[in-house]
Amino acid sequence: MISNAQATAFLNELESVLDRSSDRVAAALQLIASRFDHYQWIGVYWLEGTTLVLGPYVGPHTEHDRIEIGQGVCGTAIAEDTNLIVHDVRNVENYLACSLTTRSEIVVLIRRGGEVIGQIDADGDEVGAFDRSDEALLTVVAERLSSLN
Ligand code: SME
Repeated sequence: MISNAQATAFLNELESVLDRSSDRVAAALQLIASRFDHYQWIGVYWLEGTTLVLGPYVGPHTEHDRIEIGQGVCGTAIAEDTNLIVHDVRNVENYLACSLTTRSEIVVLIRRGGEVIGQIDADGDEVGAFDRSDEALLTVVAERLSSLN
């Protein structure tokens, strides 16, 4: 849960961080992870053909650096062309575990001109860590990242 005041403060800070960073995608992810402690892992996957390829991330190493469309939560979001909030990953049949402690997940698509070019994926250790306020914030970040390069 992210309050409107927290979101406003974060988005102001994001602009100044993006202004002074060379790897701006990584800097944006680091800022999210440092400001909101329910994000135990956050990364960007870029869509290359039919494969999601892991870009910058903050958190433990993951073996899921390439995910096909339809696989896992990440690939399902692409297949269904929608953002996904997973309340409890133990209820997802095709879930791909990055960490044994993960209980919830959010995926927000990154679009350019209406076309999906990637996604922001985040994991939390609590059941129900993410809600519509996270989706709203990550949607703004996704729009910002989409316009970077
Ligand atoms: N859990 C994701 C895989 C990516 S990791 O969370 C970093 C999935 O099911 O697609």
